[in-house]
Amino acid sequence: MILKIEELHKQLESIKIDSEEALENYRQQYLSKKGEIQALLADFKDVPKEDKPKVGQLVNVLKKRAQEIYNELKAELGNNNNEDEVAFDLTRPVEFSHIGARHPISMVRKEIIDIFNRIGFVISEGPEVEDDFHIFTALNFPKEHPARDMQDTFFIEKDPDIALRTHTSSVQARIMESQKPPIRTISPGRVFRNEAISARAHCIFHQVEGLYVDKDVSFADLKQTLLYFAKEMFGEETKIRLRPSYFPFTEPSAEVDVSCNICGGKGCNVCKYTGWLEILGCGMVDPNVLDNCGIDSNEYTGFAFGMGVERIAMLKYQVKDLRYFFENDKRFLDQFTGAY
Ligand code: PHE
Repeated sequence: MILKIEELHKQLESIKIDSEEALENYRQQYLSKKGEIQALLADFKDVPKEDKPKVGQLVNVLKKRAQEIYNELKAELGNNNNEDEVAFDLTRPVEFSHIGARHPISMVRKEIIDIFNRIGFVISEGPEVEDDFHIFTALNFPKEHPARDMQDTFFIEKDPDIALRTHTSSVQARIMESQKPPIRTISPGRVFRNEAISARAHCIFHQVEGLYVDKDVSFADLKQTLLYFAKEMFGEETKIRLRPSYFPFTEPSAEVDVSCNICGGKGCNVCKYTGWLEILGCGMVDPNVLDNCGIDSNEYTGFAFGMGVERIAMLKYQVKDLRYFFENDKRFLDQFTGAY
C-alpha cells in the first residue's frame, strides 16, 4: 500500500494539463469517489492495526497534495484563458493598411450611372477608335463642319476615315443601328480632343452619353429626366435651366445649367456671380440621325444628352483645375478616400 501511495505521488507530480477536458479527467481519475485515492481508502481496512496511523497519514498527505495540484492547474488554465481574451481584444483599433481607393472620376462616373440605372437606363459602350461615320456622318455633321478639322480631332495617320472619338455620341449611332426602340441607355467612356491642356480643358476626358428613343418621347421627358438627375447629383433643392443651343445631331438643342450648389443661386465666384453652372448638352434626336441609323423618324422620337464627368466632379468637389484628375498626386487623391 505504501508503494502504491508513492507511485501515485510520482504520477501526480509529473501530470501535465492543457485543457479543461484534461483537468476534468484528472479530477475523475484521482479525486472523485471512484478515483484512485478513494480506492486506497477502501483498502485501508486490510492494513495491519499497528500500521494504520502511519498509512492513514500518508493517504491524507496524498489526498491533500492531489487537491493542491488540481487547484494550481485550474488557476493556470484560467490565466491562460484570460491571456487569450486580451489577444482578441475587439475594441483595439485595427492596424491601418494602405489599400487602393477609387479615383474621383471613377466615383463620379459610378454615381452618374447609378442615378440613371435607377430609372431604367442600361449601360452600353462603344470603341474609342472609331470611324468617321459613327463620330460625324451618322450624327448629321455636314462635310465641312469645323469639328472634323484636324484642330479638334486626332485622326489615325494612315487612314483619314479613322479617328479617336471626340464624343460618346458615336455610341448613340452604334446603338440605334443595332437595336430596335424602345432604347434607354447611357454610355460612359473616354473621349479625345486635340486641345491645349489647361485648367479647363484636356486632350483626354470622360463623358456619359444618354439616349432614349421610343414612341412619343417628348422634350418634357428630357427636361424631367435631367431635373431628376440634377437633384440626385447635387441635392434636392437644385434647379435647372435650359438655354437654346446648337448640335448637329439634336433639334431643338439646349445647354443645361444647374443652380450653383455653393451659393444656392445668389451668386459667388464659383458661378461667376451668375447663380448658374453649365453641366451638359442635350436635345431631341434629329430625325436625320434616326433615319441615318435605320430608325423610322415618322414612328419614333428620342432625346439625347452628353455630360463631361470631369466637369461634374469639379462642380461636386470644388476642384478648380482639371489637371489634378490626371496627375495622380497622392495628396489630391487621398482627399477622396472613402468618399463613396
Ligand atoms: N456630344 C456633345 C458634346 O460632346 C454633347 C451632346 C450629347 C449634346 C448629346 C447633345 C446630345 O459636347
